[in-house]
This record gives sequence, structure tokens and C-alpha cells, in this order.
Amino acid sequence: MTGLPGAGGRASDRDVGRAGAPRTLMVRGGDVVDAGGRRRADVLVEAGTVVRVGPDLAVPTGATVLDAGGCVVLPGLVDLHTHLRQPGREEAETIETGGRAAALGGFTAVVAMPNTEPAIDSAAVATEVLLLGRSAPVEVVVAGAITVGRAGERLAPMAELAALGVRIFTDDGSGLQDGGLMLRALDYARGLGVTLAQHCEDDRLVGGGSMHEGSWSSRLGIPGVPAAAEEAMVARDLALVRASGARMHFLHLSTAGSVALLRAAKAEGLPVTAEATPHHLTLTDAECAAYDPVFKVNPPLRSDRDAAALRAAVGDGTVDAVATDHAPHAPEAKDVPFDEAPPGMLGLETALAVTVAAVGLERALAAMSWHPATIAGLDDRHGGPVAAGSAANVCVFDPGARWTVDPARLASRSRNTPFAGRTLEGRVRHTITAGEPVVVDGEAQR
Ligand code: DOR
Repeated sequence: MTGLPGAGGRASDRDVGRAGAPRTLMVRGGDVVDAGGRRRADVLVEAGTVVRVGPDLAVPTGATVLDAGGCVVLPGLVDLHTHLRQPGREEAETIETGGRAAALGGFTAVVAMPNTEPAIDSAAVATEVLLLGRSAPVEVVVAGAITVGRAGERLAPMAELAALGVRIFTDDGSGLQDGGLMLRALDYARGLGVTLAQHCEDDRLVGGGSMHEGSWSSRLGIPGVPAAAEEAMVARDLALVRASGARMHFLHLSTAGSVALLRAAKAEGLPVTAEATPHHLTLTDAECAAYDPVFKVNPPLRSDRDAAALRAAVGDGTVDAVATDHAPHAPEAKDVPFDEAPPGMLGLETALAVTVAAVGLERALAAMSWHPATIAGLDDRHGGPVAAGSAANVCVFDPGARWTVDPARLASRSRNTPFAGRTLEGRVRHTITAGEPVVVDGEAQR
């Protein structure tokens, strides 16, 4: 352990030296919801820790009161899949702007993906990101690359990264194609007690495709990516998990066939978890009809049937987590013809409202807070319960607030939200990270 916050420091440690903290906060008048259920309760926070939870608590002198009337008060959300773009692509996002977007979305921790430039494939780059993350309004932890430069040829120094506290390894942005190398990585991962996270796309099956292969791709004349490109890799990697006994997390699953494979693997007892994104739960390939590159993403938006299967799988817990795959791209990069545009869409600021609409409040919170906190190994300080003694990482969400997504008003440095102009129901009112109110009344505090 290095003492870096992203490498495992406790919430109370994070307050040391931070301007304005520690302080006393009273979250008043809401319904607390965590893995233990729902109850009417106020929440008192002191010096980074929840010290009392109960109905009608007395407000201590000098406490800052945060109104939670009509709201749910929940353990802060944890995003397993955030592209913060720093180092290397700061024109699209920085740790500062992405961190602010995360806090506004109700997140108190994010896992920064390693497809930066250079990739997070060394202790030096991981340390740089963790140090920059210290001034973000959410806890920033990093995922390390499985292979050097994410090139899929040689394993990255996983032990060196694990010694920094890195718990998740992935070549996300592309899948690790070489099954032999993946098996070796799984063996190392088991020894190190870390989790490999796979972006499931077989490059040969993807071919040159840029949207889901189906009736829409035929009609639009855009080369398609078959569902089999994902499912073939899910099936292969399940066989490798079976052979190695190591844990694997499946990133952004997008097809009904992948869900069926995952369901069977879990029934068999394989140590696997999976996530789906808010956009794959709610949008389909029909969105590509106007050739708008904002709807281009990897894996691609699929059919109605696929989206319904994903919603059902989040509903019954087969898919453990909803993760954003927040993928900022600067306007000059994204505003090009569909087949030339980079894949990816923003997600942090819209994820909770979109997911609640898709699967309901209780399932959304489990999939976005306590399940991902456990998968990321952050459950000592994120994901609840909201109870005396817990780290004060808390989100206050107003399920009745309606708002229209205006790309120009997002905190992200990029504008590529697929929900532009849509009216969403439910908005984050306050976010408290390590006892500090980083979002108050929907406004970022820094
Ligand atoms: O659409 C995507 N964009 N999918 C990925 O896996 C990577 C991401 C990015 O980094 O832009």
C-alpha cells in the first residue's frame, strides 16, 4: 500500500489536508435506501464518517443541513467503467472534469479505464492518475492494462500494479484476442487475488462493422457487427475461467445470447460477474437511422430483444452491475461520418435516471452502488450500508425531479450524450464524498 487514496486509503484519511474538511453534515428528511432496505431516517456525518442514522435527529450546532425531503439517501454510486482520458486525451476529458461529472451523477468512486495515452500499464502511469485523482470530488481508482500498451502481445507488470492497490485489469477498448495469453493472465490474476475484466469482441468477427448487424444495418448500408462477435469471446473466456479457477468480470454485455451464457455459467458456479450499460438497456440500433455518430459505440446498440434481455438480467441479478462506459470524445473527433467516428458516448451524468427508468429504483441502486463496490474491492468504504461507523460516501437522489439533458450544460469536457434533448425523471440533489458535500442542490462545489 502506498497511502494513495485510490490505492486503499480509508475515507477518513482522505479528509486530511483537504480544505473545508472535516465538517458536520446533517442529511435531513429523506428515506435511506441501502442493501438492508428502506426506512425514513436522517443521517449525521462527522469528520468523514456516518455517526448516526435515525428518524428526526437533533441538528448539532454548526452543522450544515442538506435537505433530503422527497429524496432517497443511498450509498454513493460506484462506476466500474469510466474513461477519464488523462493522460493523453485531455481535449476530450480530464480527471477534474470527469470527476465533476461523476459527482453530479451521484458517484463517489469511479474505476478509471486504462486506455489512456500512454496506457495504464506501469506503476508510473498508475501513480500519476492516482495522484491527479486525489483532487477529484470522487475517489478515483484505476484499472490496469492486462498487456503492455494494450497491444495484446505481452503481459503488463500486473504484480507491480497490484502492489499499488490495483484490483481490476483490462485491455478495454479492445478485447484480448489471444486465448493463450488470457489463460496466462488468469493464472497470474488468481495468484494476485485480482479480477480480469474482458471487453468481449472477437476482432475478426467484428470485421469492419460499426453498428449492430441486423435489419437496420442492411437498410442503412452500414457494415454490421454480429452478436456472435461478442458471444464467441464470452463463451471462450468462460471456458478459460473454468480451466483456471480465476475470477472474471464481463464488461458492457450487449446481447441476449451473452446473457444466456452468463446465466448458465453462474448456475454452474463459475466465479464471474458482469455489467451492462444504461445505453444498452434503453437504446437500440434503430437510433442509428439518421447516421448520427453520437449513437456509435462498442459494443454497438443492439435489438429490442437484446435490450429487453439485459433489463431482465439486471432485474434478476444475473447481470450484477450497471456501469456507464462513459466515453468522452471531443466534438471535432466525433462530428464526422458514422463509419469514421470513434465509438463511445457520455454516461456519468445521466446514468442513474436512465437506469431507474429501465429497471426500477431498487434494482438500479443495487446494480450501481453495492454490487459494483464489491466487484471493485471498495466495499470497505463505498456501497453502504448507510449506518453509524460507515465512511460517509452518500448520494441524495430526487426520484421525482424532471430535467432535460442539455449537452452544453454537462460538466464533462465533451458533448457526446445520446440523451440530448430528452427529459429524464430523477436527479441527484447532493453527493457527499468522504464526508465532504461535493454536490449541493445539483451544483458541483468544486
Ligand atoms: O464505445 C466505446 N468507447 N467502447 C469501448 O470499449 C471504449 C470506449 C472508448 O474508450 O472510447
